[in-house]
Amino acid sequence: MKNMFDESFLWGSASAAYQVEGGYKQDGKGKSIWDVWSHLEGKTYNGTNGDIAADHYNRFIEDVELMEKQGLKAYRFSIAWTRLLPEGKGKVNEKGVQFYNNLIDELIKRDIEPIVTLYHWDLPQSLQEEYEGWESKKVVDDFVQYAKLCFKSFGDKVKYWIVMNEPNIFTALGYQMALHPPGKIDEKLYLKTYHHTALAHGKSVLAFKEMGLKGYIGSSIAFSPAYPASSRDEDIKALDNYYQIGPWWFTDIYYKGEYPKKGLEYYRLKESLPEIEEEDMIILKKAAEKVDYIGINYYQTAMIAHNPLDGVGFQGMNTDGKKGGQKENGIPGLYKNVKNESLEYTDWDWAIDPDGLRYGLVELKERYSLPILISENGLGAFDKLSQSGEIEDDYRMEFLGKHIIACNKAIEQGVKIIGYCTWSFTDLLSWLNGYRKRYGFVYIDFEDKALSRIPKKSYYWYKRIIETNGDYLLKGEL
Ligand code: BG6
Repeated sequence: MKNMFDESFLWGSASAAYQVEGGYKQDGKGKSIWDVWSHLEGKTYNGTNGDIAADHYNRFIEDVELMEKQGLKAYRFSIAWTRLLPEGKGKVNEKGVQFYNNLIDELIKRDIEPIVTLYHWDLPQSLQEEYEGWESKKVVDDFVQYAKLCFKSFGDKVKYWIVMNEPNIFTALGYQMALHPPGKIDEKLYLKTYHHTALAHGKSVLAFKEMGLKGYIGSSIAFSPAYPASSRDEDIKALDNYYQIGPWWFTDIYYKGEYPKKGLEYYRLKESLPEIEEEDMIILKKAAEKVDYIGINYYQTAMIAHNPLDGVGFQGMNTDGKKGGQKENGIPGLYKNVKNESLEYTDWDWAIDPDGLRYGLVELKERYSLPILISENGLGAFDKLSQSGEIEDDYRMEFLGKHIIACNKAIEQGVKIIGYCTWSFTDLLSWLNGYRKRYGFVYIDFEDKALSRIPKKSYYWYKRIIETNGDYLLKGEL
């Protein structure tokens, strides 16, 4: 297979502050909504939390050394808003700024490009208490102040910025399914908070450009392309419904500066739309013209079928890793997500579909004509440490390898891909699935206080791919 990856391709890996850092009240850090939520009874898998996590806050040098040894070209991480601004606004915590400066310097020293996410779900608790966080438009300006502080503090060293991570997931889980903070079920709030994330993104993009910083900025959306369950009209219509209030609803407002028309009509009839000011749409349009790339987190595709008015609604998520436990989820009258019999599934019932990535990348290219950064892709699995201290995660190599091949094919089809970040570099906390659902190249024994790091088989395999800029894989050796 012809290798389409150019020399500047960012072979990366990723993490997020709450999931790796630990040090949850160290050096003046304020509380985030996750610091509070994970301590509430019954909210996370077996009560797991990120108080210590992988202790990356105290061990980042060791982690960056491992990245260097692997030859990683880029490391995507998020900044904890509450480390910089413990109350969400006002007084800056210099120790927090220092930590990220140290991490960035350490990466640059080792030729690893930092890709910085500004928001990976850890809103300052004080803003939640003051005005209900994302529910109030006040959050937009507080967010932009925080973003500007990041641009000012790190903008001379960081080239790649991701403003929001998966706003579609944290608003859906927080306001449609009550699985993330603040644990509400309210369609109006879901749409309102999503609108506010788009504004926070848009205003931050414009601020970034106004500051004249040299660099690239976008946001990362969780993207699940979909197929119709059959060629029956009702399934085709269901697929269109899915895209209107799913993928295109999420990405159009960020990358075209408008909501899809049919989706708007649907919510208008239900009287669920938030107040959208004319000024908002002007900002969103301007930002969409200035944004540099689309970030996507890709894990799986969906298979969409007709769902009658008395059909299924949201029926929960598989969080215990018992394959086959996932029930169908849907929106009555619009669509439901059914099992795709032609695909394999993970233990958490996520469809494994490498070609879905190629398919989705081409869809995005055709709709937005922007370069794409794959900011997450990975396999959550129960990894086992063998008696001899090794982790033979061949299944992860197979998963990632097939997705990288899909990227290569997408480039052949004209998609401009800036880089590919696996989720995740070390093992880390999975928000609702605890520490047993592992994604990393580097194993961490979370039961053992030492939290020692052990590179898995996939760590060395990815190293070979990076060294050969993809040749190792594309020549057929998975
Ligand atoms: C993405 C998030 O949704 O998927 C990550 O950006 C998350 O933070 C990852 O960990 C995998 O999801 P999960 O639920 O398996 O941890």
